[in-house]
Amino acid sequence: MSLKIAVQMDPIERINIRGDSTFAMLLEAQKRGHALAYYTPDRLALRGSEVFATVQPLEVRDRAGDHYTLGEPRRRALAEFDVVLLRQDPPFDLAYITTTHLLERIHPRTLVVNDPAQVRNAPEKMFVMEYPDLMPPTLITRDLAEIKAFRVEHGDIVMKPLYGKGGEAVFRLASEDLNFGSLYDLFTVTFREQWVVQKFLPAVKDGDKRIILVDGEFAGAVNRVPAPDDLRSNMVRGGTPKETDLTAREREICARIGPALRERGLIFVGIDVIDGFLTEINVTSPTGIRAVKNLGGPDVAAMIWDKIEQKRAGK
Ligand SMILES: Nc1ncnc2c1ncn2[C@@H]1O[C@H](COP(=O)(O)OP(=O)(O)O)[C@@H](O)[C@H]1O
Ligand SMILES: [Mg+2]
Repeated sequence: MSLKIAVQMDPIERINIRGDSTFAMLLEAQKRGHALAYYTPDRLALRGSEVFATVQPLEVRDRAGDHYTLGEPRRRALAEFDVVLLRQDPPFDLAYITTTHLLERIHPRTLVVNDPAQVRNAPEKMFVMEYPDLMPPTLITRDLAEIKAFRVEHGDIVMKPLYGKGGEAVFRLASEDLNFGSLYDLFTVTFREQWVVQKFLPAVKDGDKRIILVDGEFAGAVNRVPAPDDLRSNMVRGGTPKETDLTAREREICARIGPALRERGLIFVGIDVIDGFLTEINVTSPTGIRAVKNLGGPDVAAMIWDKIEQKRAGK
């Protein structure tokens, strides 16, 4: 089977191919004989009822500095493609939301991965709140009295933006920390949205585990251990990827959320688990494929394409 695939992603010239999950997916698609077309989010348009993008044929190579070749730009109705990969990175802002509204028009006749309406409905730190018993105690608000009461109850807390990414503005506040008032003021002027207040999990020093699920099934995992002088495990903040297995609790988490992911058309999902507590369900543009494989784990990109091909074959 040879599929026509369009990928909506950020500029390909800027990606770091060693760690980029989208790139791993593209390499695997090309290996399977699928035809690739590339466009950036700013080339997308809705005219009347038809969704268009100016796309370029794409060839990829696993060679840093020479990783892609683009052909001539052509305006195409996206409905002509079998599959559109929505792989634009956050920020999850109104531009992102608008993209999901546009792509929703062609799905599922053209299979959009992940399902754009479901991506819109599942912001990573919000979707997870459907599973409070799997999470650390968590509060989403900007109300001072609510946060103060939560702090009294839970002691050390973390404050982080609701639509943050890559560890941006994640703070730990000890129960006696006198900076709380100022940090609260800073958050109120910096963020228009409510933010996340969460019980601090000291075991974060042993890592924040990224677990990848493909169509609701466990596919691979990597532990990310923060640098000794940082709270944040994100690899962009100096976190180190380590080989890992799933604990019984982590298997239980996968079993609990897997069916909901499958039902919602969230084919490629990355969840984050600290000390057995679920903190995020990443559906926009999850990462981790290359880290899993580099540590000797399974080929998640192949699993994703097996699943997409099955769905296109109507199985
Ligand atoms: N409740 C918490 N307890 C301890 N560490 C946390 C907590 N929440 C976040 N962190 C640390 O901050 C990092 C980034 O937070 P996260 O919620 O994953 O947001 P982001 O979307 O920015 O990755 C985590 O990988 C972890 O190292
Ligand atoms: Mg995270």
